[in-house]
Amino acid sequence: MPEVDLLSPLTIRGVRFRNRIVMSPMCQYVAKEGLADDWHLVHLGSRAAGGVALVVVEATAVTRDGRITNSDLGIWTDDHVGPLARIARFVESQGAVAGIQLAHAGRKASCDLPWKGGAGLTTPAAGGWPVVGPSAIAFDDGHPVPAALDAAGIDGVVAAFEVATRRALAAGFRVIEVHAAHGYLLHEFLSPLSNTRTDDYGGSLENRMRLLLRVAGSVRGLVPAKLPVFVRISATDWADGGWDADQSVVLARRLKEVGIDLVDVSSGGLVPKARIPVGRGYQVPFARRLRDEAGVMTGAVGLITDARQADGIVTGGDADLVFVARELLREPYWALKAQQELGEEPTWPISYGYAVKRRAK
Ligand code: FNR
Repeated sequence: MPEVDLLSPLTIRGVRFRNRIVMSPMCQYVAKEGLADDWHLVHLGSRAAGGVALVVVEATAVTRDGRITNSDLGIWTDDHVGPLARIARFVESQGAVAGIQLAHAGRKASCDLPWKGGAGLTTPAAGGWPVVGPSAIAFDDGHPVPAALDAAGIDGVVAAFEVATRRALAAGFRVIEVHAAHGYLLHEFLSPLSNTRTDDYGGSLENRMRLLLRVAGSVRGLVPAKLPVFVRISATDWADGGWDADQSVVLARRLKEVGIDLVDVSSGGLVPKARIPVGRGYQVPFARRLRDEAGVMTGAVGLITDARQADGIVTGGDADLVFVARELLREPYWALKAQQELGEEPTWPISYGYAVKRRAK
């Protein structure tokens, strides 16, 4: 086995990543009717210029009602494709790979903006809208009670992910990530705490995994064989009786069987009262376990903030890619600085590199 580290390239299917650093998807909550605008271009484009290997566009709603807030990005009409294509084009022009996360917020839809408190909006007068989920169980007090999806509704969700995938490919994205984490719709079907169905989509582990496996299989079937498909999961709900790491191992094996290339391993978000031992790299052991026990490539995420820590995750075999979120908000050029810290010449954009190096002499 050749030695790998944070800065070594990785090829998945036909896509080459220049290093192992990924800009993790992060909702900006500034879109109007789901349309990407100049903010999204600059927000994402600056991290591509800043040396990451893969830029993943924030959770992008496959249906209008599947938005967390009314300012989420969306991809539920053909009109959404053009502004997203502009972003994909720019990201790729900087030597990064353009990816997008496709999402449905399920029972956690219809919320106010986070900087206004993020409260559930339960009435049209408050700006809310009807939400759906596996069962009629609200996320929390003050959140809308979802309508349990019927068979046709479930087929509609699969179809929405399919159309969204076609649009994402038309926009030029080369990595599609299905969002099945953080308590949103696909995660809600996985967890016994939000899914009390008695049909083929609830009860046994097999039944609870059915919707995600359908969506993942459908997306994989539409994406050309040369392009990767990722799935983000929450490895555990951090709550008694909920989704957990053992079930995640089984799921990761099944995702691999349907052709998913990498499982991006997060945690939590399903229930408000979870007890989460948040700390440096606290989710990395889950990425390690899924990689070891399911034999699937993994992404590690969560409080990964410095270059040596990130490098250790790759060299130690915990994960294949390192997803960085908040630290990239603080420092758009985090990846360039990581290269410097690990003893390599930063891959500056061409217009900066010669000037920066000349000044140093
Ligand atoms: C997030 N996160 C997130 N996750 C996801 O899967 N889709 C998303 O759209 C978002 N949106 C989002 C917005 C903002 C502002 C933050 C800070 C986070 C979670 C994020 O990708 C990451 O998993 C966590 O933030 C943990 O990583 P860090 O921030 O500790 O590196």
